[in-house]
Amino acid sequence: MQIILGVTGGVAAYKSAELARLLVNLGHRVRCILTEAGARFITPLTLTSLTGEPCYGANPDQGEWRAKPSIEHVELARWAEVVAVVPATADILGKAANGLANDLLSTVLLATRAPVLWAPAMNTGMWEHPAVQANLARLRSFGHAVVDPGEGFLACGEEGSGKLAEVAVIAEAIQMHGAPKQQTLSGRRVLITAGPTQEDLDPVRTLTNRSTGTMGIELARAFRNAGARVQLVLGGDGPAPWGVETTRVRSAQQMLEACLARWADAEGLVAAAAVADQKPERQSPEKVKKGDEPETLVLLRTPDILAQLAAARRSDQWVIGFAAESQNHLKNATAKLNKKGLDAVLVNDVQNGRGFGAQANTLTPITAQGAHPPLGPLPKDRLALAVVNWWAQRLEARPD
Ligand code: CTP
Repeated sequence: MQIILGVTGGVAAYKSAELARLLVNLGHRVRCILTEAGARFITPLTLTSLTGEPCYGANPDQGEWRAKPSIEHVELARWAEVVAVVPATADILGKAANGLANDLLSTVLLATRAPVLWAPAMNTGMWEHPAVQANLARLRSFGHAVVDPGEGFLACGEEGSGKLAEVAVIAEAIQMHGAPKQQTLSGRRVLITAGPTQEDLDPVRTLTNRSTGTMGIELARAFRNAGARVQLVLGGDGPAPWGVETTRVRSAQQMLEACLARWADAEGLVAAAAVADQKPERQSPEKVKKGDEPETLVLLRTPDILAQLAAARRSDQWVIGFAAESQNHLKNATAKLNKKGLDAVLVNDVQNGRGFGAQANTLTPITAQGAHPPLGPLPKDRLALAVVNWWAQRLEARPD
């Protein structure tokens, strides 16, 4: 992909160097445009060295650096397959929202027909100001994408929102926004559970499992890439993918409540979470001290989220579950399919430590028709794509 990376004048400009390098490593061509204020925070030499392409715009050594001043903005605007401004200051947002163009970056932004993406970073007060929010709403109405800033300690000493989003998230958003749109599942609404759940014993101890959440997160990405609107209910610390509405939870009960609140609005569920099957009978608000008595832990069953959602489904809703099996795969998975009333079970072979945390995986779909050819072995991102393609074909064949 040919990416124009606009860099404007904020402290977070140093992160554009890391972003440029990451995008180049991912196989893209990146040309940077610095504004005059941006060039006070980072040099053209840094960006040129990292991208292997000229850096355009302001240059402290040469002034505004223009090979062909009259048409440079048009050439760059045409060259771009996506234009991303990282970090974006309140100033550039205001200019672009109102069609002002008085330097190379703002003229490229006006001239281009490529998708545009903004990753703002600024002081919390500025970020929350109605003028900035109104400008962002206007930019969104043009079809531009925004990677919202996160919360944290800001360079100005304040704590709050306005911190530039993670570089990896911005890179994902740029690739996603710049790629041709896939429409296989356009307009479909999918609810996905992912990650481990945690059942706290006390403020410092917890019962959990070794799931990383990667498979569910990759499925959320793959459904999103296919055009679906995805709601992800996520346990653990896995990264929330861009363009997916993510709700973070800890316990099975919280996951159940989050899912129930979203189920009516979805037409399908993919339950990829590794829900802890038990929780402690007692949860102590204070840290439990060790005593001389022998200690036993009494465990209770957690709610079965998949079973409850399947039981509460409408006739137009579909449900896919996972099964981790080390033996009798087909028999055990078919029993699960029937017991929970599912449309499909994806069987994960966990014999000899496969599955959790592994790089490549195989999933065998089981439906009422029996076992289907296995998907994989593939890395989890491509495996997720294979699952989505397999399911999209079946959805297409389903009578409405
Ligand atoms: N699941 C759930 N809520 C639970 C337990 C499991 O939603 N409390 C979902 C998982 O997300 C997965 C499927 O149910 O989609 C797994 O079913 P489960 O019966 O737990 O299968 P296994 O983990 O394979 O366990 P076992 O074979 O021991 O029953």
